[in-house]
Amino acid sequence: MLRVENLRSGYGKVDVLHGISLNVERSECVALVGANGAGKTTTLKCICGINPIRSGSITFEGEPIHGLPGHLIVRRGITMCPEGRQVFSEMTVLENLEMGAHSRVDDSQTKDLDEMFELFPVLRQRAKQSAGTLSGGEQEMLAIARALMARPKLCIFDEPSLGLAPKIVEEVEQTLARIKAMGTTILLVEQNAAMALRLSDRAYVFEAGEIVLHGTGQELQNHPEVSKAYLGY
Ligand SMILES: Nc1ncnc2c1ncn2[C@@H]1O[C@H](COP(=O)(O)OP(=O)(O)O)[C@@H](O)[C@H]1O
Ligand SMILES: [Mg+2]
Repeated sequence: MLRVENLRSGYGKVDVLHGISLNVERSECVALVGANGAGKTTTLKCICGINPIRSGSITFEGEPIHGLPGHLIVRRGITMCPEGRQVFSEMTVLENLEMGAHSRVDDSQTKDLDEMFELFPVLRQRAKQSAGTLSGGEQEMLAIARALMARPKLCIFDEPSLGLAPKIVEEVEQTLARIKAMGTTILLVEQNAAMALRLSDRAYVFEAGEIVLHGTGQELQNHPEVSKAYLGY
């Protein structure tokens, strides 16, 4: 479904990605793990058309998408749930969810809103409240629901557990597992490698702008270097 080949990108004079290749197939959950600064977010931003690429290619459903502006990539069916949630804090929960669906032309938003409220009952309770008044965990749920409201073919999550209390991190993991079980194709970036490897069918390990390991979530959980460097045992 998504194929990234030999991707190079960077900022100003600095090269950050030195030839990244990865793929995501339909209904798969693929994780990118690795230390802070390894280039995971940069990779996601290239896929979403936020960062320009320097060379290589990104194809989605067989067609090149690198070079397309972000809003057209959203139309193709790729949605990002960004790092740090970035909910529209002055807007209500309901308005945030409606914003998530703005790129859609069909008229089944009401049905999808109901589905989101089923998945996240707390959002129903708080529908009329401004998003800025929610707790961190609730804002994460809102950011996830907002991304799903676009009905993405590929949903990208950047560090959904970052900065949340352990109990809420567990909730985020359960939520992602449910979204995966619904058949959503997921590309997940997580510094919480244990969680990422439990959730993912396959994972890529990033180090300084390169992919140094690749395997199934299970293989990597049992890989000595991965467990030592990222899982703490
Ligand atoms: N907007 C930016 N301008 C300049 N350098 C950046 C910018 N964003 C990220 N970087 C640098 O790019 C490298 C990779 O960052 P990033 O992709 O955010 O890593 P990760 O998501 O794996 O933590 C880091 O060295 C970071 O400092
Ligand atoms: Mg990042």
